Amino acid sequence: MSSQTASKLFSPIDLAGRTFANRIVVSPMCQYSAENGIATDWHLMHLGMLANSGASLLILEATAVEAAGRITPGDLGLYNDENEAALARVLTSVRRYGNAQLGIQIAHAGRKASSQRPWEGGRALRPDQDPWTTYAPSAIPFAEDWHTPQAFAARDFERVRNAFVATAQRAVRLGFDAAELHGAHGYLLHAFLSPLSNQRTDGYGGGFEGRTRFPLEVFDAVRAVWPTDRPLGFRLSASDWIEGGWTIEESVALAKILKQRGCDFIDASSGGIALGAKIPLTPGYQVPFAAQIRREAEIPVMAVGLIVDPKQAERIVAEGEADFVALARALLDEPHWGWRAARELGGEIAYPPQYARAAPELWPGHKFQEESSVMD
Ligand SMILES: Cc1cc2nc3c(=O)[nH]c(=O)nc-3n(C[C@H](O)[C@H](O)[C@H](O)COP(=O)(O)O)c2cc1C
Repeated sequence: MSSQTASKLFSPIDLAGRTFANRIVVSPMCQYSAENGIATDWHLMHLGMLANSGASLLILEATAVEAAGRITPGDLGLYNDENEAALARVLTSVRRYGNAQLGIQIAHAGRKASSQRPWEGGRALRPDQDPWTTYAPSAIPFAEDWHTPQAFAARDFERVRNAFVATAQRAVRLGFDAAELHGAHGYLLHAFLSPLSNQRTDGYGGGFEGRTRFPLEVFDAVRAVWPTDRPLGFRLSASDWIEGGWTIEESVALAKILKQRGCDFIDASSGGIALGAKIPLTPGYQVPFAAQIRREAEIPVMAVGLIVDPKQAERIVAEGEADFVALARALLDEPHWGWRAARELGGEIAYPPQYARAAPELWPGHKFQEESSVMD
């Protein structure tokens, strides 16, 4: 392919001095398949599959900094030595056989913790299901019939900030290539940002400065222990999609501050703070948020949400709306999505040698696939 028509989706990019082979990212996806925070063989299967999807970066699911910060009893954690040893085993195999670089999403579920796995109902754990105490900026439940969280006291700020740092240090030891803090979807850091969930009257609530204070303290503390040659980002919900909630303007302002403090990228999602938000679920519906943050805060961004088609992904990167596209469900549906995108857009993908005979130049079957799709 000539340089004029070369795919932008398949062009390399440097972030924090690290080179990523293309712009495709596996978006973090909870698997609810850990036991006491400990990774299982499901993680080996799931991550093993996606490490050869064609994405240059695979970000592991929300990984809790303390047991109380897990969304469900099945969430992955990285808060003790057992968690770390189990993840080390998984990562060793995934690195040995996979091509993607590996990122981690460091998380605390806040008032949305202590809930059932989605396939068990996804509601707050009932009294007979071993629920645990949840924490949030204010003692306001996520929704009716959800746990009323404990409002953060002085000791909670310190405990949770230290827990983020300790998890980041474990992640450094595990050799993760990148990390993002989970500041989206209504979980703890987002709950501090949004006026809908943060109604504190001390220095950690009120206006923009107060609401961003704890998330920024956590970011600074993690930044201090995270190596500068590995990208560290922040996933935010760019808008609550609710009147009186967190806004895209505030997201841009936060992104500017994060950039000054050494944040390498923003991963722009949205929603999740409360039920009843009106979200227009059209293809690429969150891309304009990423584009605005990229333009106004001048920071690299990941766009995410209903990015499904290779040409759509190509357009987002080529038109400068985002530096990366993060995909979740399209990659579960088609774990080699990146391979197909490479064929359609003329990009290059590193096949594992075991699967090399399925590459277009070695398998005549590809030609028949193309012919039959033309006949359809
Ligand atoms: C099974 C599943 C688990 C998810 N878990 C997480 C998570 O751990 N952290 C997160 O920030 N988003 C999570 N998400 C949201 C995705 O990362 C992504 O933002 C969302 O699915 C929209 O992208 P998509 O349209 O490509 O699926 C999850 C989504 C799915 C489908």
